[in-house]
Order: sequence, then structure tokens, then C-alpha cells
Amino acid sequence: MNVLITGSCGFIGFHLGKRLLKEGHSIIGIDNMSNYYDTRIKNIRLKILKKYKRFKFVKLDLSKKNLKLSNTIKKIDYIVNLAAQAGVKYSLKDPLAYYQNNIVAFAYILELAKDLKVKKLIYASSSSVYGDVKNKFFVEHKIGNPLSNYSLTKRMNELMADFYSKIFSVTCVGLRFFNVYGPYGRPDMALWIFLKNALLNREVKLHNYGKMERSFTYIDDIINSICLIMEIKDKKNHKKNVIFNIGNSNTIKLFSLVKIIEKKINKKIRYKKISIQFGEIKKTHASNEKFNKIYNFKPKVKVTDGVNKFIDWYLDYKKKYKWL
Ligand SMILES: NC(=O)c1ccc[n+]([C@@H]2O[C@H](COP(=O)([O-])OP(=O)(O)OC[C@H]3O[C@@H](n4cnc5c(N)ncnc54)[C@H](O)[C@@H]3O)[C@@H](O)[C@H]2O)c1
Repeated sequence: MNVLITGSCGFIGFHLGKRLLKEGHSIIGIDNMSNYYDTRIKNIRLKILKKYKRFKFVKLDLSKKNLKLSNTIKKIDYIVNLAAQAGVKYSLKDPLAYYQNNIVAFAYILELAKDLKVKKLIYASSSSVYGDVKNKFFVEHKIGNPLSNYSLTKRMNELMADFYSKIFSVTCVGLRFFNVYGPYGRPDMALWIFLKNALLNREVKLHNYGKMERSFTYIDDIINSICLIMEIKDKKNHKKNVIFNIGNSNTIKLFSLVKIIEKKINKKIRYKKISIQFGEIKKTHASNEKFNKIYNFKPKVKVTDGVNKFIDWYLDYKKKYKWL
């Protein structure tokens, strides 16, 4: 099959591209190589993808009307939209980056999906859309108010997809990812920052006094879920715009994450417990029943195993790339 992946040099886009290319599919990857975090890791990812003959890369800012994509890209079975300005904290600093890269760019993607009549548009939403909901488990039909520009733009993506599915019959699948981690991960995310600081003997900051709790989800579980959506024919009653949580149903407190890292690298970590930051959710707890019911799949990788794999990768890469 032919798949267009936006954000192909990002963390999730890279892993999805690699998996599909290994399986013999053809991929068009689009990324603007934004410098929100260190682009050296994006270039490493891109270099790996370029080894595959069936990979075509287009460096492009999707939020700019500089190319009528449907004229250049003719036959696409699926679009997986992973391009976005990510990060909750940064969305307070530069809100416009979120409206431009997450809303305007997504509008172009919806138009493209409509023009190309793709089988499905699969797009990344986020657990952050749950905002201030009071539920113990996050279930798809019950969300709260957004707490950041990031979560607001992700919620808007869901509504935009809903509209396009109803009015233009674009079949859309929105995925609310919960704290994804793993090799080739993101330098702006907690696990990477904690490990890097620990190795440099720097203090680690634990928001909400270390009690912040997350459904940490290993990258392989995310990729398996996306692939299942493309492989398996939908049940008859699958709606035109459906939204799923993709998250580990076991949560972990940030303090426990520090303990797992300490054990693995055999080193005491200096940490400081600080208050919660504006826009952050104290606890995310994914219910994955809805996805499991249709696709018979739940994230499986235990946090200890996943974190250990990430650390093995990081330490190995650090030998080659000193800046890590
Ligand atoms: N990683 C997580 O824990 C997580 C959790 C919830 C949701 N998500 C969502 O999943 C998606 C993928 O996340 P990720 O962790 O791989 O993030 P990432 O930042 O590593 O990847 C996103 C990629 O999109 C590219 N991009 C941004 N704006 C663009 C534009 N206008 N045109 C073209 N490319 C653009 C960036 O350069 C980047 O390489 C994002 O939509 C993110 O919001 C991620």
C-alpha cells in the first residue's frame, strides 16, 4: 500500500515509516524539520528512512499554501497525520505555532484526504484533550475543558475531522496518544530529560512533587495499533470519524520513573520536587477498552521493560553521538 506520513522525521512518524517500509510498503514522508527540539535526532531518523528505496521524502511546511499536494501526490491509500507542534508547556509561550501547525496544516491535510479519496485519514490527537475531566479512567466519550493551547488545538482537530467525515465522507480515525516513549524518542520529554540530567549529575525536577501520574505507552504498542487500523477491515458499525485512546492502562508516578532509571544506570539521582505547572494534567489514565473491542489489541509493554530498552538505546547511541 501507499502511505503518506506527515511528521515523518518526528518520533512516532519515524517508527511508523520504518515499520511499513520493512513490510514492503511505499511511503511518502513529509516534515518541515522544525527546530522545536534538537534537529540532529530528526536527521538521524531521516538518514535511516532514506536507506529504503520505497521512501520518498518531501521537506515541506504543511501550514503554508505553497504546493497543491494532490497535484503531485496521486495515489495514496492512507494518510497518517503526525505532524504537529507538540508540547504542553511551550504552547503557553508560542500559541501561534500551535494554531498554524496543528490547525491550518490539518485543514490542508483534510482537503488532501478529501481530494485523494483516501481509504482513511488517521490523525494524532492527544490525551491532553481530557483536560480537567474528573473521571478515574479516561474514556473517549467523556472529556473536560482544555488546559492548554496544545490540548485545545488537538480537540479542534477532532472536531474538524468529524465535520469532514460527515460533510465530505472522509473516513477519519483520531488517536489520543498517551505519553509515548522509546528509542529515537523526543529530547523534550520527561524520560529523555531525566536520563540526560541523571547522567550529567544534574538535578531532576519532579512536577506536582513527583506525584504526577501517567499512562506511559511504549512506541511499539503505538505502531502496532496504527498498523492494525490500516490492516483490519472495519466492523460494519464503525463510524466515519472514530476516536480511540491508545494508552497503557497501567499508570506510573514520575517518582517511580526516577527509581526505575536509578536501578538501571546504578546511580542515585538528585531530584527536586516542585509544584504542578500551568496546563498540566495531574494524572492521565487510559482506558483502552474501545480500541480493544474493535481491534482486539491492548498496549502490552510494561514500563520497566520499555524504560530499560530506551536506556539501552540511549547509552548505545551516546557512544556515537556525544551530544546525546
Ligand atoms: N509523543 C507523545 O507522547 C504524544 C502524545 C500525544 C500526542 N502526540 C501527537 O502525536 C504526533 C507525533 O508526535 P511525536 O512525538 O512524533 O512528535 P514530534 O515532534 O517528534 O513529531 C512531529 C513532527 O512534525 C513536524 N512538523 C511540525 N509542524 C509541521 C508542519 N507545519 N509541516 C510539516 N511538518 C511539521 C516536526 O518537524 C516533527 O518532526 C503529534 O501530533 C503529537 O502531538 C504525541
